[in-house]
Amino acid sequence: MNIRVANVNDLQKIQACNLLCLPENYQLKYYMYHALSWPLLSYVAEDNKGTVVGYVLAKMEEESDDEPHGHITSLAVKRTYRRLGLAQKLMDHTARAMIENYNARYVSLHVRVSNRAAFSLYKHTLRFEIYETEPKYYADGEDAYAMKRSLVAFAKENDVEPQDRNTFFAEKEKGRKGKKGEEKIPITGKVEEVKS
Ligand SMILES: CC(C)(COP(=O)(O)OP(=O)(O)OC[C@H]1O[C@@H](n2cnc3c(N)ncnc32)[C@H](O)[C@@H]1OP(=O)(O)O)[C@@H](O)C(=O)NCCC(=O)NCCS
Repeated sequence: MNIRVANVNDLQKIQACNLLCLPENYQLKYYMYHALSWPLLSYVAEDNKGTVVGYVLAKMEEESDDEPHGHITSLAVKRTYRRLGLAQKLMDHTARAMIENYNARYVSLHVRVSNRAAFSLYKHTLRFEIYETEPKYYADGEDAYAMKRSLVAFAKENDVEPQDRNTFFAEKEKGRKGKKGEEKIPITGKVEEVKS
């Protein structure tokens, strides 16, 4: 099994894998948008014939008023390749790339509250924490856990060199100034996302 950065030639295979594994599906142009905007952040797992058996689709959140952070748009591994550690490896590759290329200090995602396999992977293996429950986040009305993983801790444990080590490892204030310098905004505020 090989894990490598995804490129535009993989996008249809990633889309096929997504259709097999998840009810949240996207048009090809949305995969293209990820590949062209953040070409270093999405990864595929392929077998020795070059068949894509898993992927992680990732991006950077570009709200200017928050610290740099990544977001996992989608993750899946084909059924017969599960419990081999592929999802964990895909997620660690993307975490490393977010730190090295974008100085991302954390990564966020949404997961269905009923998705025990994914929740267990995120919470227990990758040490994501729930920071919010979003009611009726999914099209069928199911709630989502919004979760975050500290990439500062990940970088320290895995000896990852950030893009700018001074700002990456700097202690953040508990709050920071609002737009007019009047109010404090907690740094762990809600992460807005366009549902897709
Ligand atoms: C969730 C998913 C991506 C996990 O992929 P995977 O490659 O099987 O995961 P890994 O082998 O890396 O698992 C690592 C750890 O996560 C946890 N985990 C993974 N699958 C689990 C399951 N079915 N039940 C409980 N824990 C599970 C375990 O702790 C596992 O370690 P272990 O095998 O040593 O016990 C896969 O089940 C999947 O594609 N599901 C459908 C799509 C999906 O739900 N995607 C996530 C959307 S948010």
